Amino acid sequence: MKKVLITGGSEGLGLALAECYAKDGYHIVLCARNRLKLEEAKHILQNIHLCKVDTISLDLSVIGNSQKLYETVGSVDVLINNAGIGSNGISWKIPMEKEEQLVQINVIAMMDLCKLYLKDMAERKEGVILNIASTGAFQPGPYIASYYASKSFVESYSQAIAMEAREYGISVYCACPGPLDTDFYHKHDGRKPKNVMSAEHCAAYIYSHMHKKVVIIPGLLNRIVYYLPKKIKMRFVYRMKKKALKEKKDAADR
Ligand SMILES: NC(=O)c1ccc[n+]([C@@H]2O[C@H](COP(=O)([O-])OP(=O)(O)OC[C@H]3O[C@@H](n4cnc5c(N)ncnc54)[C@H](OP(=O)(O)O)[C@@H]3O)[C@@H](O)[C@H]2O)c1
Repeated sequence: MKKVLITGGSEGLGLALAECYAKDGYHIVLCARNRLKLEEAKHILQNIHLCKVDTISLDLSVIGNSQKLYETVGSVDVLINNAGIGSNGISWKIPMEKEEQLVQINVIAMMDLCKLYLKDMAERKEGVILNIASTGAFQPGPYIASYYASKSFVESYSQAIAMEAREYGISVYCACPGPLDTDFYHKHDGRKPKNVMSAEHCAAYIYSHMHKKVVIIPGLLNRIVYYLPKKIKMRFVYRMKKKALKEKKDAADR
């Protein structure tokens, strides 16, 4: 039975991706912190898709926990680096530890897990890695600077290792979703935009495009935006985020 490890697989996009693999009979391993949500996700996957599911409660913001995860889970056919957190606001007003945590989860844990599993997959001459970035990877993000920068790293790193890994029989992909209808915005001081894609739709698009290009962009508008000049996109993000920040401040003052 093929095995897939999904970080941040207890809810949102991670759980929706797990459902895609569950339908194809994979042994699913989910990693996240909240044990209750992990159990709920396990229950959904096992009851609907009758697949084998294991869960691991681990905080990927803790240095060394990627290694711990790798040692606990062992070899997998597919690794999905999906766990990610966000951060919004004026950069120097965001607590340092919050953004260090963001870099640890979005960048370092993703990179460490890639390195650990690439070595393993290269020896077996097969394997698939999917890293979840964002359309935020396409330009710098004023008022969301560390998050967009972290996702640029994910996209750039994925494209580079995809080229290195190809000759070892390993496929590396990077998905760049636009806004999704998950709890992500509530958790990270953001405001959910009106036009959001469902996690299920996004996961299905990613899953069905994993044999094509390295960079997978769900949503036609997002694919068009990808080709716009960086300066225009950055200006747009600046205006949009500044407006959102002002509205939040006005609401708090009221
Ligand atoms: N939502 C969007 O609009 C959007 C758009 C583009 C890209 N993305 C990216 O897509 C991915 C999934 O986002 P989502 O919207 O599905 O988010 P979500 O609903 O907030 O789910 C995040 C998942 O990551 C886990 N997680 C968070 N911190 C963790 C930690 N320290 N250690 C281990 N697991 C942790 C969460 O579980 P616990 O909290 O229990 O640990 C949860 O399972 C992220 O990488 C995000 O950046 C999201």
